[in-house]
Amino acid sequence: MRMYDIIQKKRDGGALSAAEIEWFIDGYVKGKIPDYQAAALCMAIYFKGMNLEETTALTFAVRDSGERLDFSEIHGLRVDKHSTGGVGDKTSLVVTPIVASLGVKVAKMSGRGLGHTGGTIDKLEAIPGFCTDLPVDKFKEIVNEVGIAIVGQNASLAPADKLLYALRDVTATVDSLPLIVSSIMGKKLAADDDCIVLDVKTGSGSFMKTPQKSKELAEWMVEIGKRAGKRMRALITDMDRPLGYAIGNSLEVVEAVETLKGQGPEDLTELCVALASHILELAEKGNYAECERMVRKAIEDRTALDTFAKMVEAQGGDKEWILHPELFPKAKFKHTVRAKTKGYVVSVDTESYGVASLLLGAGRNTKEDVIDMAAGIYLQAKTGDFVNEGDPIAILYSEKEERFAAAEAKLLEATKIGENKPKEEPLVLDIVE
Ligand code: URA
Repeated sequence: MRMYDIIQKKRDGGALSAAEIEWFIDGYVKGKIPDYQAAALCMAIYFKGMNLEETTALTFAVRDSGERLDFSEIHGLRVDKHSTGGVGDKTSLVVTPIVASLGVKVAKMSGRGLGHTGGTIDKLEAIPGFCTDLPVDKFKEIVNEVGIAIVGQNASLAPADKLLYALRDVTATVDSLPLIVSSIMGKKLAADDDCIVLDVKTGSGSFMKTPQKSKELAEWMVEIGKRAGKRMRALITDMDRPLGYAIGNSLEVVEAVETLKGQGPEDLTELCVALASHILELAEKGNYAECERMVRKAIEDRTALDTFAKMVEAQGGDKEWILHPELFPKAKFKHTVRAKTKGYVVSVDTESYGVASLLLGAGRNTKEDVIDMAAGIYLQAKTGDFVNEGDPIAILYSEKEERFAAAEAKLLEATKIGENKPKEEPLVLDIVE
């Protein structure tokens, strides 16, 4: 086979065979295919797409490009939850201890922040001592003992995705449906879970900006997961506004803990309860209404919070910070952003909110950047709220005062204030089984 022929076939709109796709992935991971040819193929896929068969073959090739994990030593049904990425999305920190406290096992591999979106691993590393890089045996031992462990994706898992993602990131080919599907599901399927619930975000803060595109993404991921023998479900959820009020690593851990105590923001609580209930239903713990009751009780009686604290301790973190989140240090500087005019917050460009948080130091602009764990944004007004001129719309936190001007400008530009109260949109827009 020749890479030239494969690129040409896709450029001209042809469908690649499974053998061609596997040959490409194998050659790319082994360093036999150069980045410029892989980039050309990604761009051809971006413009010409891939059908479901090609996307399945690409996903399985990504999955098989490295180590496949074996969780058979973990007793009980194993579940995973994955978000396609959003702003202020700390749902994994809330949902996974809830379901673990209710008897399903969570052996979770999570990612770091990507572009304007945050990542669970960065958030957990805001807890002092928390280790996100455990040996596999220790990881399985904690899952068996506590019910849950969360670690970063180890380097040997789906290495094709690591290479391809870095390439897509710099060649404007991230937001391609077959490439996103194969990237996410390739990684998920390399782990050994029985059930996967996907939180597919839609709107201005997500990679897929319209509900139609997000639904298509969800349908393909669910179908490919089923083809790999997994129990699958996807929720299409709103990312036209940040989730909760906190954006930034330690701010989000604190908000997640408040939510586990039953004192979290309404939207975040609603989505976490829905995701946890769907996971439990998929794991056959009861019908949806029964699962929802169990979830609310686990929050009320603090068993979910207790499970989270136990996981933190087992992974080397200081659980006192979970039981007393006021211990998280505050950023050195804070700055209030005020409304320039009065009216309703009609809409926000959520991606820009994520970028503003990056500008404050909460994420990375280059792979080498060190995250400022206390940096971020605490919103004071969200879509639908009324503000007077001069009212606070957000508080910015950073270790470096000079970062405020750019973040404030980004935030103000992204916040549309108008006369009419916008219609309230549901948080869960659709469910794909
Ligand atoms: N998250 C991933 O892991 N991959 C993508 O392509 C997009 C979001």
